[in-house]
Order: sequence, then C-alpha cells, then structure tokens
Amino acid sequence: MARRRIIAGNWKMNMTPSEAVALCGTLKDLVKNDAVDVVYCVPAIDIVPVVEAVKGSNVHVGAENFYIEDKGAFTGEISAPMLKDAGVEYIIIGHSERRDIFGENDVLINSKVKKAFASGLKPILCCGESLALRKAGTYKEWITRQITWDLDGITADQVKELVIAYEPIWAIGTGETASADQAEEVCGLIRELIAKLYDQATADAVRIQYGGSMNAGNAAELLSKPNIDGGLIGGASLKPDFGKIVNA
Ligand code: PGA
Repeated sequence: MARRRIIAGNWKMNMTPSEAVALCGTLKDLVKNDAVDVVYCVPAIDIVPVVEAVKGSNVHVGAENFYIEDKGAFTGEISAPMLKDAGVEYIIIGHSERRDIFGENDVLINSKVKKAFASGLKPILCCGESLALRKAGTYKEWITRQITWDLDGITADQVKELVIAYEPIWAIGTGETASADQAEEVCGLIRELIAKLYDQATADAVRIQYGGSMNAGNAAELLSKPNIDGGLIGGASLKPDFGKIVNA
C-alpha cells in the first residue's frame, strides 16, 4: 500500500515570531513538493504568524504541545480548540523532551492522543529508547510498551490517521543518527505491533517517521526503507537543508 510521505519540522524552543516568518520565507520555494505532506511544528507563540505566512502553500502547521482540557484555570497552558481555531492540523505528542524534562507519562500521553483525535487534530506520537535501553538490548520491549499504552482505547480508524515517530533518544540532537537498518528494524516492529493490536489494513495505513539527527545527507537512505514513511526533523528543520529532506 502506498503511504504518503510526511516530512515534519520540530522547531522546539527556537524562532521568535519575526524569525519564524523569515524562516517561512527562506524555505518557501525549497519545500515545494506535491507528493509529500510538509509540516512545520512550531512554538505556540509562532502559530498565528506561521499559519499566515504559509497560506496558499503546501505547508501544514503543527503544534508542539497542548493540555487536555478545553478551557479553564490552567495557567500557562493552551488547549486543542485554541490550536484548531488558529489553523493547526498536527500535534506532536509524547516527545522524549516532554517525557524526560516535563515528566509526561504514558497515562497523560494517552489522554492527549484521545483529546487530539476528539478535537480534529492529527497526532504525531513519538516513542523511542534511551542509550541505556539500546545497550541493554531491551529497546524492542520498551517501544512495544510505550505504543501499547499510548494507544489504549484508540480505534483502528483513528490509527489510520495517526503518525508515529520513532526517535531513539541517543540520536536526538547528538549528530549520531541511527543507521538506516537500525531505524527500519524498529519502524518495522512498530508496524507489526499495530497489525497485532489492530489489523493488517490499519498497519498498512499508519505512517511511521524516523527522527533523530536526520539531515540532508542521510535522509534519502533512511527514507528509502520500506517502513519509514517520513521524518521528524529538529535541528535541520531550521535551515534551508529542510528543503533537501523534503525533496530527498
Ligand atoms: P534532531 O531532533 O533532528 O535535532 O535530532 C529530532 C526531534 O527531536 O524531533
């Protein structure tokens, strides 16, 4: 089954609003590709200007975080309806930085996946193991547990719309990329797990990205693997190189 490629930038805590608009201008002609879904996941304060800046282009806008309630006394948080109203389509959930720095656990992450679907946002659900788990050889069990918990109560039809990003923590921002074979092994494992938890049609439809120091030099090889349908890109999404990854 042909799955549509999805290349998403994860800007993290980078780009002031005016820098964000300038970056959209720099990337505008470089990210043109009608065969690929291109997404910029941007800091909350950049959402409104970025939605405006990419209007009429092939770029979709995503957010990096939200809280599970619609509104109320949650100082500092933003809600799914706010994101939706601002023109956001995708939402990163379960990134290792949110798990490790902000203490998000799989119970909250599962609630966020449910809330995103209920609100009409498409989750990019992240999973991935630490270097210690990779070295201990237990990374497959870890990924299996993360995905199984995070998708508890999610229907097959929803999973068909889901994007899963496999991001080994030891490869994020370190310049150390998983080899294409290492990335493919885990992305294939995730697809098999979806077939087991749901069915083959769902496993064939779900899109799986690799993330972790993906760049203009290694993207083509990673993206040539049968179970890798795209990338979630941090550092290289802030540079003209992102256009090379979109067109790899
Ligand atoms: P990186 O980040 O490309 O800078 O390694 C990827 C991510 O954390 O999503």
